[in-house]
Amino acid sequence: MAPSDKTYSVPLYTTSNGCPVSNPNAMIKMGKVGPALIQDHHLIDLLAHFDRERIPERVAHAKGSGAHGYLEVTEDVSDIVSADFLNGIGKKTALFTRFSTIGGEKGSADSARDPRGFAIKFYTQEGIIDWVNINSPVFFIRNGVQFPFLVHTQKARDPQTNLKDVNMYWDFLCNNPESVHNTMIIFSDRGTPFSYRHMHGFSTHTFKWVNKEGQFHYVQIHLLTDQGIKNLTNAEAHALQSDDPDHAGRDLHEAIERGDFPSWTLYVQTMTPEQAEEAPFSVFDVTKTWPHKDFPLRKFAKLVLDRNPENYHAEVEQSVFNPANTVPGIEPSADPVLQARLFSYGDTQRYRLGTNFTQIPVNRPLQAHCPFQRDGAVCVNGNYGSVSNYPSSFEPLKYRVDATNNEAHEKWASEAISFQWGATDLDFEQPRVLWEVYGKTRQQEALIHNVAQDIQGAKPEIQKRVMEYFSKVTPEISDRLSEALQK
Ligand code: HEM
Repeated sequence: MAPSDKTYSVPLYTTSNGCPVSNPNAMIKMGKVGPALIQDHHLIDLLAHFDRERIPERVAHAKGSGAHGYLEVTEDVSDIVSADFLNGIGKKTALFTRFSTIGGEKGSADSARDPRGFAIKFYTQEGIIDWVNINSPVFFIRNGVQFPFLVHTQKARDPQTNLKDVNMYWDFLCNNPESVHNTMIIFSDRGTPFSYRHMHGFSTHTFKWVNKEGQFHYVQIHLLTDQGIKNLTNAEAHALQSDDPDHAGRDLHEAIERGDFPSWTLYVQTMTPEQAEEAPFSVFDVTKTWPHKDFPLRKFAKLVLDRNPENYHAEVEQSVFNPANTVPGIEPSADPVLQARLFSYGDTQRYRLGTNFTQIPVNRPLQAHCPFQRDGAVCVNGNYGSVSNYPSSFEPLKYRVDATNNEAHEKWASEAISFQWGATDLDFEQPRVLWEVYGKTRQQEALIHNVAQDIQGAKPEIQKRVMEYFSKVTPEISDRLSEALQK
């Protein structure tokens, strides 16, 4: 039997191969003034591991904080979803959550103006499902292929100067006017949440929930904070960037340490395939919200975070979330941004952590049996012993029915086409309503102030295009922006 891996609790200091070291501060040298000797295995072992301490940071969402918790089903949703972990009032499922900003590097400030990631990994009896949410109900792009361009312009640095570039940032948004809905959210005070505890989460995309009869609904998930929404002003967020760049991670950790466990109430919006046909916008358009009056929120669960990680690198840095990880009863929709995501996460995680990243404890399903995936670097799960490495006599498993209703709606028959989903007038209708809503809460002033602050250093032609961009929502925004810039 292998010795326990809990060697860290033994108060004896050893090299990584377990050899006791009497003085970790000493080196083996040719006399007091001579050179070091390569036979000093402790020195070589220590330095070689140190040299490899960093793993690649996430290409997006590099700065983050995590916590463990659970989901508890509070209402019966068996009529719309067959997923085991959502069936049975009172059923609890362990989970791990990672909050993040999108654009900043690993050491960047938590208070940056940016959407926040709110990724959740559920350890269900039917495997792992990840809900890789953000705190905004809409996203900047709706052509999945554009994500690298979005990240290059919003996060990456100029190829020559290595400086962030406000011109590139706004150039991209203006070239893709369907982004204006999310831009208006991120440049309101909602773009700088007071903490991770005080913001909502959204699936943002449409998914499909399939019930036990095989009927599906399109759904969107809302996680509404029980702590109440609280945001920072631009000035407060700027001050925190230098005073306490880790403020949101600190707030989360300290709240959990003092037993003030943050929680969210979960709701689902549902749409039948027939309603989707009638809706004035595409159900696959991630730049649109579903009006609550037509598609009311239906409560179904409570999410609680009640345990801090023991070790940041092991549990938070090495955690992976992938929208392709799902369980029977929950399926992706044809949203083209979601479809692109289904490839990207597993791919980057194989690069970031190596082929066997699902063997890392935080990523491990409660049970898994996939002996046809074996070997590879750092394989530590026993590698399925002598179990056959190809399928020979497995019975096909009809686990649960697949979606069957309204096949016409999701029956694809077409030739391959090159398609870019361009902007139309429809894209400015919801932002126009949002502008009116902002009028009731002083967020019109916040939006104007925050955008003006951001573009004041941009080139005049970019400033002009930003005015045009917002004037498609209403000329009132560009007029007020123009005034604010002249002050
Ligand atoms: C085509 C569009 C997108 C692509 C290609 C993409 C790709 C990625 C990649 C490569 C990562 C890093 C993953 C890792 O290293 O483990 C990431 C992180 C993340 N993405 Fe996306 N993304 C897209 C859109 C979105 C959207 C629309 C949302 C939310 C609705 C989202 C939410 C997140 C979150 C929350 C994380 C951080 C996960 C964590 O905490 O580890 N992404 N994304």
